[in-house]
Amino acid sequence: MKDSGIRIINLAFESSCDDFSCAVLLKDENGIKILSNIIYSQDYIHNIYGGVVPELASRNHIKASLPALKIALAEAGVTLKDVNLISATAGPGLVGSLLIGLMEAKTISFALNIPLVKINHIEGHIFSPFLEITETAESFPFVALVISGGHTHIYLVKSHSNINLVGRTRDDACGELFDKVSNYLGFGYPGGKIIDELAEKGNKDAFKFPLPMIHSRNLDMSFSGLKTAVISTVDKLGGPVKIQENIVYDVLASVREAVAKLLYKKTAAACYVYGVKTIVVSGGVSANSRIRSIFNDYGKNNNFKIIFPSVSLSTDNAAMIGYAGFFKFPVDPCANREEFLNINADPSWEL
Ligand code: KG4
Ligand code: ZN
Repeated sequence: MKDSGIRIINLAFESSCDDFSCAVLLKDENGIKILSNIIYSQDYIHNIYGGVVPELASRNHIKASLPALKIALAEAGVTLKDVNLISATAGPGLVGSLLIGLMEAKTISFALNIPLVKINHIEGHIFSPFLEITETAESFPFVALVISGGHTHIYLVKSHSNINLVGRTRDDACGELFDKVSNYLGFGYPGGKIIDELAEKGNKDAFKFPLPMIHSRNLDMSFSGLKTAVISTVDKLGGPVKIQENIVYDVLASVREAVAKLLYKKTAAACYVYGVKTIVVSGGVSANSRIRSIFNDYGKNNNFKIIFPSVSLSTDNAAMIGYAGFFKFPVDPCANREEFLNINADPSWEL
């Protein structure tokens, strides 16, 4: 590290799925601040396919990688010479996508002799709310619910280095359920945001969908049965083409309600099991308005402190990777130079 003082400029990369993001963060005596957080979304590319096409994602990451870097540095008002630390997502995710951001990070690290830390994408999500609220010793322990297109996981978090998986989906992630239902109804990808908006027009009590594994004696969840129940309900009502528009809204409001209740029940159960009073909800699906209101309302009634990132930091972004990077920073980075260069993408990296 060039500057061993309190001021650290951290350049972060996130490219695990279909978003390419580059951010610049500053850590000084006032804490951690986002100076820029540029996100190149590919939603418009994958929309017509109903899901992410890995080869297209990595090809488009190549196009975005240099412009994202240039804009992130310019917006932050810094140059590469000012950077003391580089943080990059190394997994889990799509291998071709991960490689683009990671190779850019490794190249800059090698050429300019700047230390590089590898970050687990899920860890980035877990701590993302602390980009906006100050993290203190009192922030721990907490139960973290990470809900995204690939994850529905519950962790017990005692510190940055003590994170334990205590519950997870046994099949689909809840974001995957929203994406698949949206695709089936012809609304395209990504489905979570679209379903959230359309559900506002429907009646959440119109259909009673099953809440799979709600009474199981563990913290695991299941969403594929719920997905099948939604699809067969739509089929019985005439199928995606013939079903009445207002009934579709009722179906979507009812499934959104079922998902939100199931997630809250299991997360609250984790808090009771481990004697924890704080819940952090993050990942793309945490942008969902009904999930936010159920957690906030039920959490208040049960005396839990509920923490969400702002909607713009819920979905994938490099700022959250940079935040986690500050806590991985080795004591003597120069001594570990070979180790930095040996960092590789790990598509199935379990936290
Ligand atoms: O964390 P994220 O950006 O990428 C992954 O790591 O997967 O999450 C993407 C997921 C997608 O499944 C998308 O449909 C979902 O987040 N999502 C939402 C909302 N906005 C995005 N799901 C429900 N409600 C939303 N408002
Ligand atoms: Zn994510």
